[in-house]
Amino acid sequence: MSKQSTVYKHIGVEPITPVIGAEVTCSNLAKQQPPGFLQEIHFALMRHQVLFLNNQGITPSEFSAWASQFGRLRKARRAAFELLEEAPEVAVIVNDKNRPPNVNHFHTDGIFRKHPEFASILHGKEVPDYGGDTIFVSMTAAYEALSSDMKSYLAHKTATQDFMKLHGSASKARSWKGENAIRMRAMAKDHPPISHPMVRKHPVTGQPGLYVSESFTRCIDNVPVDESDAKLLELYRHYERPEFQCRFRWRPNSIAFWDNRATLHYAVADYWPQKRLMHRLTIETDALGSDG
Ligand code: SIN
Repeated sequence: MSKQSTVYKHIGVEPITPVIGAEVTCSNLAKQQPPGFLQEIHFALMRHQVLFLNNQGITPSEFSAWASQFGRLRKARRAAFELLEEAPEVAVIVNDKNRPPNVNHFHTDGIFRKHPEFASILHGKEVPDYGGDTIFVSMTAAYEALSSDMKSYLAHKTATQDFMKLHGSASKARSWKGENAIRMRAMAKDHPPISHPMVRKHPVTGQPGLYVSESFTRCIDNVPVDESDAKLLELYRHYERPEFQCRFRWRPNSIAFWDNRATLHYAVADYWPQKRLMHRLTIETDALGSDG
């Protein structure tokens, strides 16, 4: 039986695991697209949580213009990233001999914000010949597989999410060098620790998803610290199981488009000292879904 679904008229969608990830084939994103095209991409994203599009040779402005049709883009901040004049929403993530990779930890973008973002999109500009894959985790599949005792335990719990848990750690020391320390301090001041439910209902699919990440989750609120540490560790080891994952091998001009409300991701740091240069966009609101 073909894995290709017939619900799509304008794109091809090939799942890469039963729980997360699909490869999408479609025309170049800079071209005029037929009515219904974006809705199909959005539908596939809700169903598969992360989409991969290959051979998308587009400029940063074309990349921004395309992504902005899905919702409001955040202007990139210089604190953690390099910027591009021609497309102020694009954050440049570059690693090379002098800037070893340091995004090899499971996280969802924006968990430390009051209003976490809907989605992120990464465009591979210069990628290693091999290595430097990105791993994605389905947090709805991870939640589903929890024991009923753990589900009951988490039902009304919140956890504190802290920007400084990761960014104050030794792995991010490079970001605090020189005058960038001022920008990083401003980021930390703008994002004090904040609580979010540990299980969130997805605003479009209605599926419950686990909402913690080892990088930013400081503690479970209102429980003793030993209990919090033990339960969080159990959840972290749980969501790392390969059954909830897919892994993407980058090619130049590949795109990965993921829903931060349902996933975690991890940039595998096995390619150093080769260069890896990515352009990233953050979509704050879901214009075709929950916020549309
Ligand atoms: C990120 O964590 O946003 C970047 C992921 C990657 O570079 O693969």
